[in-house]
Amino acid sequence: VVRSAVTGVGSFLPEQVVTNADLAMIVDTSDSWIQERTGIKQRHRARDDQPTSDLATEAARRALADAGRSAADVDLIIVATTTPDMTFPSVASIVQRKLGAPTCIAFDVQAVCSGFVYALSIADGFVARGQAKCALVIGAEEMTRLMDWTDRSTCVLFGDGAGCVVVEPREGQGTKADQGLLGFALRCDGTKTDLLYVDGGPATTGTVGHLRMAGNQVFRHAVVNIAEAITAACAASGIEVADVDWFVPHQANQRIIKGVGDRLGLDEDKVISTVAIHANTSAASIPLALDSAIQDGRIKRGDLVLLEAMGGGLTWGACAFRL
Ligand code: ACO
Repeated sequence: VVRSAVTGVGSFLPEQVVTNADLAMIVDTSDSWIQERTGIKQRHRARDDQPTSDLATEAARRALADAGRSAADVDLIIVATTTPDMTFPSVASIVQRKLGAPTCIAFDVQAVCSGFVYALSIADGFVARGQAKCALVIGAEEMTRLMDWTDRSTCVLFGDGAGCVVVEPREGQGTKADQGLLGFALRCDGTKTDLLYVDGGPATTGTVGHLRMAGNQVFRHAVVNIAEAITAACAASGIEVADVDWFVPHQANQRIIKGVGDRLGLDEDKVISTVAIHANTSAASIPLALDSAIQDGRIKRGDLVLLEAMGGGLTWGACAFRL
């Protein structure tokens, strides 16, 4: 079995920023309510002519440059998204064309906010079996397309963006023996689909639909489930929670991030939080947060990193790797 490693990271945010004050002009809310309940100050929003594949492609270009690779090297593209440009083809197919990558394996993964962790696990499997040597694992979302702009309990929570990591066989990359993806814990409880869903789709209403959420019930499940997955991913990786240098959680709500941290006794300084400036970008939030903490010099090569997420399904999961 070939071990895989993250060799490059990149991200992209659409230019337009929407502040809480902007939203207070369209629904009955306030900057102070949103910040107190969620920690969110602003989110990015894609232009009408800027589909998810555009964000994904730019994040992929940046990650390839960071890894010292080019589009010609790519042999696997996995896009985690719940907001594809179209029902089909996959965003991954469109990214392949826009990047100018050669004919290769390309498909999307739908596990909502947990999609990036699921996709990383799938890429790890392809590399382990020798089926991929340069994989792009992308989380790309335009959650603002799914908002009911009359529902203040959801429309203030989400944003758009994309992040990408390059995954390659560890051997030959100059990495140390303990580097690479270490272990995963992935979960889904399909009895809770009604807590967080989109009320449309091709085989039901024939429309795109809007995001619906029982916010406080999701919140309650989030803290317990994420803590369990972190513990399980550490066990699968042969590490202790206390060994982890950096926690990069899915960015849904600062109170969820803090709740998980308190439950596991995590040092707040080790937890990366971008929810204030990105809001919840679903499958894109982890690679966006990872890239921003690498860019600002906090996360460095050789650090032990733990990713965790939870979202619609309900799905959740965690993963440990040494960068
Ligand atoms: N502005 C002002 N008031 C609001 C707003 C708003 N934007 N939204 C809701 N309210 C009101 C409600 O109408 C309600 O008023 P009422 O008491 O008069 O009925 C009141 O605020 C309290 O509503 P709650 O839903 O109980 O508020 P809560 O403290 O639970 O916060 C929130 C809501 C922020 C959605 C919280 O439950 C949450 O973050 N849940 C986690 C869900 C989440 O983040 N999901 C993202 C996807 S899943 C994931 O990624 C983990």
